[in-house]
Amino acid sequence: MPRKKLLWAALAAAVVVALALWVHSRWDAWFTMPPEPAFLSPDAPHNVQLTLGSDAERTRIVSWQSGLSSGSARLTLIAPGGDTLRYAAARRDFRNSSGSLSYYNVPFPVSPGGYRYCVSVDTLVSPWYDFSVAPLSALDTLRFVVIGDVQNVRDTISPVVRRIQRTFRPLFWMQAGDLIERPHMQWWNRYFADFDSVAQSVPIVAALGNHDFHKSLPRRADERFFYTFPFYGPSGGSPEGTARFEAGPLSIYIFNTTRNYFNLMEQRRWFLRERARDAADIWLLVILHHPPFSAASPFNNLPTRWALLPAFNEAGVDLLFSAHEHTCSRRNPDADACFYQYISHFSPKNYTDDPANGRHFHVVDVTPRSIVVRTYSDTFLLTDSLRIGR
Ligand SMILES: [Fe+2]
Repeated sequence: MPRKKLLWAALAAAVVVALALWVHSRWDAWFTMPPEPAFLSPDAPHNVQLTLGSDAERTRIVSWQSGLSSGSARLTLIAPGGDTLRYAAARRDFRNSSGSLSYYNVPFPVSPGGYRYCVSVDTLVSPWYDFSVAPLSALDTLRFVVIGDVQNVRDTISPVVRRIQRTFRPLFWMQAGDLIERPHMQWWNRYFADFDSVAQSVPIVAALGNHDFHKSLPRRADERFFYTFPFYGPSGGSPEGTARFEAGPLSIYIFNTTRNYFNLMEQRRWFLRERARDAADIWLLVILHHPPFSAASPFNNLPTRWALLPAFNEAGVDLLFSAHEHTCSRRNPDADACFYQYISHFSPKNYTDDPANGRHFHVVDVTPRSIVVRTYSDTFLLTDSLRIGR
């Protein structure tokens, strides 16, 4: 064989071997899925979740679970004026080789004021819960909390979750994906134990992360995620795992970055279509799992960067919260991006081994003229503060 051909053959062989080694090193991360332990779901309504409806100011959704698959489930709501309202629930049955249960949800209109509610399946009734609705458009300051990956598999984080809510009184929580360790019932139950009392009284909105997916080809999002957060239901042709919320001076866009480039391009087109509905002077906030600018490597998350970054710049996104990398950083606007990008996590896993990159959360205060983002460690140490004005 001529020397030149031999060289090309050697080069091709080296590329194939390098590719094979890389796939081998990533095999478990991509394809190995621990089997889900068998589970039994109690009949009494449990794992109650309050979340936002399509209009953060005027709608709410409550979802809950039960081992009973019943045609008679409902939400009982005591409105601010004292009227008692009853809503029939929609039901989604879930079954896999580890167990079965039913999910119920009710979307309902709200107006400013205090509410009480309970949920029921047949004759089984949950405890009563309270929540209040603020007039987001008329508030001096709209406050919410953002957290990244939770994925808790260790000691409960319930005390710190409750302390955040008690200390800062956010109107809602946003979570940037990987809420649970794996799509297993045990980890959904862990989330509800960690967020008990907050999940029922303050709307929580979670984005999809890679840990919310089944490791298959193609990867498939766990349907329990959508049953828990039903605002992702089919509406207006939005791609799976995307959502938009109007919240007073803020427009919030949620993306599903655990998808391929072509799906991300579809999300980009959806975003630009939806963006046209925003008022010109509104703040633009993006929540997604994989940061367009990785803190770990310039080669990470390239599909997200290639597909979404041009649209974010074109639309003038102000602020982006992301997760996935189990570290904490802020990236300021520059020639490549017009927005501030945060990466953070709220998880026991810290990929950098630097204690300064441990569990963090963000408290965000929004007015028509400014956004203030304060970043705290889970010991409530203020580690970063940013003010964006106009
Ligand atoms: Fe992740």
